[in-house]
Amino acid sequence: MTTALVVGADKGIAWNIAKQLADRGDTVYAAIMGESTDFEDASVTILPKVDVTSGDAVSGMVKTLQESGVKVDVLYHIAGVMTLDELGKIDYDRLNWEFQINTVGPLRTIEASLPLLQEGSKVGIVTSRVGSLGDNSSGGQYSYRLSKAAANMVGLNLHHDLKKQGIAVRMLHPGMVKTDLVKDYPGDYNYISPAEAATGLIARMDELTLETAGDFRHSNGQALIW
Ligand SMILES: NC(=O)c1ccc[n+]([C@@H]2O[C@H](COP(=O)([O-])OP(=O)(O)OC[C@H]3O[C@@H](n4cnc5c(N)ncnc54)[C@H](OP(=O)(O)O)[C@@H]3O)[C@@H](O)[C@H]2O)c1
Repeated sequence: MTTALVVGADKGIAWNIAKQLADRGDTVYAAIMGESTDFEDASVTILPKVDVTSGDAVSGMVKTLQESGVKVDVLYHIAGVMTLDELGKIDYDRLNWEFQINTVGPLRTIEASLPLLQEGSKVGIVTSRVGSLGDNSSGGQYSYRLSKAAANMVGLNLHHDLKKQGIAVRMLHPGMVKTDLVKDYPGDYNYISPAEAATGLIARMDELTLETAGDFRHSNGQALIW
């Protein structure tokens, strides 16, 4: 039986991942920032009030799992936010806040969770193609681009360090997904549903091995450039 920890699962893509994993029979722990969320009939254990910017909240989550003897086979770090800023109107307090969630958040959470992981465990970090240096042909979105580019570095660094312990790390882009995150995003896109993104991301983590670790993948399987 596979045990998964899904971080940022109040709603959106992460909620759908937790639901789909539970529906197929995995043991699922869903870390949410709020106090509750609705997993309908799914058998998901909710870990409430896990704000990834809080060391106390994250270490409390890990302590709870350790006390129950939980070992995590697959950790999905999905929590994230997106600010729509542009040159001349950058709010640096907000940029710093976004870094705390999108960049420091996965590092803090995964580092704290190391006692839960073991040889053969996998870690998936949902960053974003918007954080790709090579794919940036349009500019703008300073806070989001910077925080997600640095999140890719967090993941690649973790890959090098954790591979030695037999733990596979992969960075993931979900696609353009119709969630609250993009409700004010300008332009027309062929959005996929959060359920479709979740199915693809689960497949990417299912197929991940130590040999294929350390890369950056679209939920549809496409290899992405950094
Ligand atoms: N949607 C897209 O097209 C798209 C594209 C590329 C990448 N992504 C990435 O995919 C991830 C999920 O996004 P989504 O589209 O599913 O957005 P979403 O529906 O807005 O979900 C974001 C989730 O992150 C949680 N969260 C925010 N701040 C947090 C914090 N400090 N601590 C813990 N959890 C926190 C939210 O909790 P609350 O509900 O309590 O705020 C929510 O559950 C994000 O990392 C995003 O950058 C999304």
